[in-house]
Amino acid sequence: MSSAPISIEPAEIEAIKAQALKAISEAKNLDELKEIKIAHVGDRSPIAKANQSLGQVSMEQRATTGKLIGTARANINQAFDDRERDLILARDTKALVEEKVDVTLPVNRRHKGALHPLTSLRHEIEDLFVGLGYQVAEGPELESSWLNFDALNIPQDHPARSMQDTFFIEPLDAGLVLRTHTSPVQVRTMLENEPPIYVICPGRTYRSDELDATHTPVFNQVEGLVIDKGITMADLKGTLDLFAARIFGPDVTTRIRPSFFPFTEPSAEVDFFYNGRWVEWGGCGMVNHKVLEACGIDSKIYTGFAFGMGLERTLMVRNGITDMHDIVEGDLRFSRQFGTGTR
Ligand code: DAH
Repeated sequence: MSSAPISIEPAEIEAIKAQALKAISEAKNLDELKEIKIAHVGDRSPIAKANQSLGQVSMEQRATTGKLIGTARANINQAFDDRERDLILARDTKALVEEKVDVTLPVNRRHKGALHPLTSLRHEIEDLFVGLGYQVAEGPELESSWLNFDALNIPQDHPARSMQDTFFIEPLDAGLVLRTHTSPVQVRTMLENEPPIYVICPGRTYRSDELDATHTPVFNQVEGLVIDKGITMADLKGTLDLFAARIFGPDVTTRIRPSFFPFTEPSAEVDFFYNGRWVEWGGCGMVNHKVLEACGIDSKIYTGFAFGMGLERTLMVRNGITDMHDIVEGDLRFSRQFGTGTR
């Protein structure tokens, strides 16, 4: 099928080109330019269609018309590329100005929360003992005086009771105290569980001391309790040595000195050797058979050890803190020295 040759006038090509160039030059942004590309540059644009119809142009005119269309197309493409480059540059320059960060503006001064060094120490101790297969036990801070004293073999008239500077809760006949140590958690654990028992009991304790450089009425202790068959003081000593080495450093050892606590027999004070001197750390001993029996544990089958020490004191010695106020007052400059908290 053949049809009569057509002719494309140079003026027609010129008009197509002029329209395309005008549209390109008027594009205000890259989105508009995209539309213009479809209308004036792409496969369905007038210039592309003119090119496609070249085959129908008579042989004599085809070379000249083809050249005209080719040149016009090249001009349009060039104009398009130039405009696109300019618009990209304009967009980026604008973004640089508009999205500029003023580094002289004040920073966000809200502080991120962080753990208090005492809490971190408590976590360190918990991790150590959990790694040894112990469980972490907790008890109430408002405790029955029976659990805080009697069950621990500290009877009414025992001098140890007054030694503890107890906060009694009114009405007094309700028999409630703010626990003076974490040892009642031992009793709770033994009453609620069958041996073998391996627990540590960290927590807050209270005594009616004045706050000064070495005392605070609210402080923290960590208690350890093991009840199993064949437990001896050697197990206690080994556990204390490991505890000290992990908290104070690998070369730190402990010694135990004879002492007295109503709930242990024999009882001892534990010291650790640190920076060339022996430092008192806490109390310990073999759980008194009277305490075992009071908690329903057969002392002919089971033996156990217990220990208890203050966390504030442990932190003070380990980190060279000389004033208790620093630990309790909550000044952020103190916590930040431990790498906790951000500026
Ligand atoms: N509860 C004692 C106190 O606060 C410390 C203590 C001593 C705990 C000997 C123990 C222990 O478990 O066996 O002074």
